[in-house]
Amino acid sequence: MNYSYLSHLECPKCGETYPADEVRQLCACGSPLLVRYKLDELKNVLDKKMLLSRKPDLWRYHELLPITDEANVVTLGEGMTPLLALPRLGAEYGITSLLMKDESLVPSGSFKARGAAVGVSKAKELGVTGLAMPTNGNAGAAWALYAARAGIEATIVMPQDAPVITRSEVALSGARLYLVNGLISDAGKIVAREVADKGLFDASTLKEPYRIEGKKTMGLEIAEQLGWELPDVILYPTGGGVGLIGIHKALLELQALGWVQGKLPRLVAVQAEGCAPIVKAWEQRQAQSEFWPNSETLAFGINVPKALGDFLVLQAVYETEGAAVAVSDAEMSAEQARIARLEGAFICPEGAAAFAAARKLAASGWIAAGEKVVVLNTGAGIKYPDTVQVNPPLLQIGEFIG
Ligand SMILES: Cc1ncc(COP(=O)(O)O)c(C=O)c1O
Ligand SMILES: [Zn+2]
Repeated sequence: MNYSYLSHLECPKCGETYPADEVRQLCACGSPLLVRYKLDELKNVLDKKMLLSRKPDLWRYHELLPITDEANVVTLGEGMTPLLALPRLGAEYGITSLLMKDESLVPSGSFKARGAAVGVSKAKELGVTGLAMPTNGNAGAAWALYAARAGIEATIVMPQDAPVITRSEVALSGARLYLVNGLISDAGKIVAREVADKGLFDASTLKEPYRIEGKKTMGLEIAEQLGWELPDVILYPTGGGVGLIGIHKALLELQALGWVQGKLPRLVAVQAEGCAPIVKAWEQRQAQSEFWPNSETLAFGINVPKALGDFLVLQAVYETEGAAVAVSDAEMSAEQARIARLEGAFICPEGAAAFAAARKLAASGWIAAGEKVVVLNTGAGIKYPDTVQVNPPLLQIGEFIG
């Protein structure tokens, strides 16, 4: 049996194919590329029961990942995060089976470690020695740390108001860190110049095909953790949309393997009211989004005014009869506090946005009471200490509370 059943790269826009054993960025037509596997072959050699004896990390799905030689795997133990029941919050929403896929427990405190683990491992396998990327913070932190572990030089450019902790993570990892007085789209333009000048590997969202593969493991895990019975709805806080595209891809691959049956879950792309290009496109039944001017939200990870893979996100939403929903920053903050209070989980603002959307969709009847609903919490609340303001009373030593 092979470690990976990697076959080739394929363009979802024009259908062009490329070999997967050399460095590739976008398709010649400008579209992101998707990784394809020999699923027909794999179907005959891998039984899902064989997973049971494997380690609880994302590499348990190595046949469905693009690294062909196990020696190239760069890991910090990412994956197999809890799928937690939230009964009190569910009761409040009117949903009997509300589950949180909790990505706050992965190395670097956000699900970005999944994309980084697989992306950096594949870059190493392909002989990459230097990479560059723009980031809203968490991805840069994860990629810088995994690149350090792989011995690859990283150049990271992030908006100056990205969460401060992510700066420290990048700086400590030894990566070259630059701040930009602008958005991730501005950072992207700087990275494109740097990549062209210095011949670096461009690890920007969807400009290399392998980050999706890491993120798709969230979908594989959800299916496995539910005993290969898919939920009815999955909600995901959507910036670049890689996680949603990845989850959709994972579910299609599981269908092709015959490991899951029936209808796919309705996928919901959740955005912030201050940056909702995908929601706008979905409301107008468009295949692509338009650049969202002056975007602003406290959920920094989903402040992406125009995503390269917007058409793939929209396709996933349309094909699964899902939805795209925007929530306000006030709704996110209120939800973040509700979840800490009711369930003891301190989640990130992006995750809180997805919960706020679940609350809305349950209230409108789009989610029915008996449906099984999985919400992605994409990171740890403790990475964003400044989003919560508290002013407790200060006691003098020896003073009593009374
Ligand atoms: C915590 C968090 N959630 C969600 C996202 C959005 O991720 P995606 O690019 O998969 O849409 C990000 C991206 O930075 C993030 O940091
Ligand atoms: Zn193409």
